[in-house]
Amino acid sequence: MPYRRCGRSGVLLPEISLGLWHNFGSGDDPAACRAMIAESLELGICHFDLADNYGPPPGSAEQRFGELLAQDFGAHRDEMFISTKAGHLMWPGPYGDWGSRKHLLAGLDQSLRRMKLDYVDVFYSHRPDPETPIEETVGALVQAVRSGKALYAGLSKYPPELFHRACDLLAEEKVPCLIHQYRYNLLDRSCETGMLPATEQRQIGSIVFSPLAQGMLTGKYLGGVLPADSRAQRADSPFLTVERVAGDAARVARLAELAAEAGISLTQLALRWLLSKPAVTSVLIGARNVRQLRDCAAAAGQEALPDDLLTALDLATA
Ligand SMILES: NC(=O)c1ccc[n+]([C@@H]2O[C@H](COP(=O)([O-])OP(=O)(O)OC[C@H]3O[C@@H](n4cnc5c(N)ncnc54)[C@H](OP(=O)(O)O)[C@@H]3O)[C@@H](O)[C@H]2O)c1
Repeated sequence: MPYRRCGRSGVLLPEISLGLWHNFGSGDDPAACRAMIAESLELGICHFDLADNYGPPPGSAEQRFGELLAQDFGAHRDEMFISTKAGHLMWPGPYGDWGSRKHLLAGLDQSLRRMKLDYVDVFYSHRPDPETPIEETVGALVQAVRSGKALYAGLSKYPPELFHRACDLLAEEKVPCLIHQYRYNLLDRSCETGMLPATEQRQIGSIVFSPLAQGMLTGKYLGGVLPADSRAQRADSPFLTVERVAGDAARVARLAELAAEAGISLTQLALRWLLSKPAVTSVLIGARNVRQLRDCAAAAGQEALPDDLLTALDLATA
């Protein structure tokens, strides 16, 4: 597994990281979860991305991950880079959501308890809060780092202007922003005119999520058939709907043709295209089983896609 430097920091991240948003909740098979963590470590995928609300239900992915660490993987803690986030709805009442200092620091404490950890490697503000002063949200990240409960601070889904402001504030406190996390895939290139150049300009790491558009870019939905075990069929997956799959079908079909012409799978095409971007530090996948994990990991360390293919991809996705 090749590792890339995260911005100007001392941190190296694997080209492929594993996110636990889905597939690690209390309804998922513990043995499959354990196998994926074990296989990740074997493959050199040492970065595990969590958030307080991952599951489902919220909290259960951290709980499951904590149990696995305690049972099997705790001895490898120093070889692992573990992140969590707060800022989405977690508990009722005025303090269970968004970007206040109260919510973020209580959320971090809860995450550490669920994972049975003393610290996380990165603590993120999961999303910007339009009602809370950015100084307060950033202040909570600074305190998380100064208290030793997080080694680094991160931002997720911030628009460029607010990202720059947050980075300035963090830098003033000598707690530089390590990394920004945002969506980037062949079906959603919106970051190319915003976040991508912003992170490049500031030399801050970029970890890009949903690289396979939640599975659409594996080709599993081509032909209009939804596999019974796929995410689009899950009632607890509100962000990948049948309508969404149908709406992107024509573009996915064109990309699948280009992958076939290049002699690689659509999954490989989608992941290698992202890894061809110098601004991308790590590609943050989700996997439901070891087979998917291995398949995705195989995209790391490959040679660059040829220029004519990159041009064809631009034409197909512009
Ligand atoms: N910061 C944020 O707000 C935010 C938002 C979203 C995600 N994230 C992070 O990004 C991570 C990844 O997001 P994502 O789950 O949307 O990523 P993704 O890699 O685009 O989608 C993962 C899904 O694609 C399918 N898949 C993956 N590899 C496959 C393969 N080789 N062959 C066939 N199917 C495959 C599986 O779906 P099936 O179940 O259908 O098999 C899997 O659950 C999350 O876990 C989380 O850590 C962060």
